[in-house]
Amino acid sequence: MNIFKKLWCRTFQLGFRIAQPILPYREPKILDSVEEIPSVLKQKGYTSALLVTDGFLRKSGATASLEKAMADAGIHLAVYDKTQPNPTTVNVAEAKEMYLEEKCQCLIALGGGSAMDCAKGVGACIARPNKSLSQLKGVLRVLKKIPMLIAIPTTAGTGSEVTLAAVITDAETHHKYPVNDFVLIPNYAVLDPKLTYTLPPHLTSTTGMDALTHAVEAFIGNSTNKKTRSHALQATKLIFENIEKAYNEGTNHEARKNMLHAAYLAGEAFSVSYVGYVHAVAHTLGGKYNVPHGLANSVLLPIVLEEYGSAAYKKLHKLAVAAGVASDSDSDEVAAKAFIQAIRDMNARMNIPSALEGIKEEDIPVMAALADKEGNPLYPVPVLMDAKELETFYYKVQVNK
Ligand SMILES: NC(=O)c1ccc[n+]([C@@H]2O[C@H](COP(=O)([O-])OP(=O)(O)OC[C@H]3O[C@@H](n4cnc5c(N)ncnc54)[C@H](O)[C@@H]3O)[C@@H](O)[C@H]2O)c1
Ligand SMILES: [Fe+2]
Repeated sequence: MNIFKKLWCRTFQLGFRIAQPILPYREPKILDSVEEIPSVLKQKGYTSALLVTDGFLRKSGATASLEKAMADAGIHLAVYDKTQPNPTTVNVAEAKEMYLEEKCQCLIALGGGSAMDCAKGVGACIARPNKSLSQLKGVLRVLKKIPMLIAIPTTAGTGSEVTLAAVITDAETHHKYPVNDFVLIPNYAVLDPKLTYTLPPHLTSTTGMDALTHAVEAFIGNSTNKKTRSHALQATKLIFENIEKAYNEGTNHEARKNMLHAAYLAGEAFSVSYVGYVHAVAHTLGGKYNVPHGLANSVLLPIVLEEYGSAAYKKLHKLAVAAGVASDSDSDEVAAKAFIQAIRDMNARMNIPSALEGIKEEDIPVMAALADKEGNPLYPVPVLMDAKELETFYYKVQVNK
């Protein structure tokens, strides 16, 4: 990246870092079970809500106790269950239509990041009826209160239940972009590990690696504070200790509970301290080829960390100690390399591939340009890279390169 763009990026990031203490971060109130939701709605005088979920979760019965609790309490619950993984602008438009038709007063999201982000997208469109979602992409563009949102994660991954982000894919252009605004932070989060018991091993591993990516990218960036550093380290420790237990034994309550907690902590950390180029590149692969978000991150994480080189060694050393794969007495370089290798080994033990199918060479410049647009100047990464430099990541993750 040329020196002028570097200066611009670092100045922009410094501005946000200085503003950090006065920005309106908040946390959702935590509920332990979906059965608590009707009384929350009743306290507010709400009689009608929209549930945003996906078809699989609805059919498999994951929404049943919520639907029953709402019916028992006499609260109308409209259900939008067509959310796709990597939710699209069409999903958001359809769900918004239902929200208005059914005269809903608040939003409930049950699912992984896709359902939660779709609900956030609906909220943004309700708050800003005259704007398209693509006009709201980037930072602080919504700026108007959205309807009350209760988020119920069923994956231990995205942390969307606590973050200010909604990541939406344009159904026509396949451009996947984050909308970041404090108004998108859910008001309530239901953290019930039992809802994640049914998550199959390959989704347990990849969504868990998404949470690890949040913790790592937040920690190695330049805009951390004491709290986000501590949360990122805690999340890293919890994920290294629990992800394989959850992967091998889906109903291990302790492991599921710790993974859900880790995903929350990591989500909180990156909401304040940002992600980095792993996410910027992963979003373009999700948008263009529908690569699941967690899978893209799992494959990219060790590759991007390696590319940062010595600029990230010191912080990776701290993460390596939290993960239990190095000690304080190791050199920064040895510990950082051990951490990257530990991620690769963990991926391999959980059958996560080290490359991705289907990346076409002719698509790479456009995807790299979009990743550059998402990451720069916002993400305070250890080493700045422009579109040309980001292109190398696509070649490195390509199968049969
Ligand atoms: N808003 C944020 O802060 C944020 C952060 C990271 C990622 N994201 C976004 O979130 C999306 C990915 O979310 P995700 O990784 O949670 O996956 P997802 O929501 O796309 O779900 C993936 C699959 O898992 C299934 N599933 C979910 N919970 C299940 C359960 N308990 N049992 C069985 N199957 C279950 C779903 O039906 C779906 O088929 C991406 O679009 C990504 O960009 C958002
Ligand atoms: Fe993510």
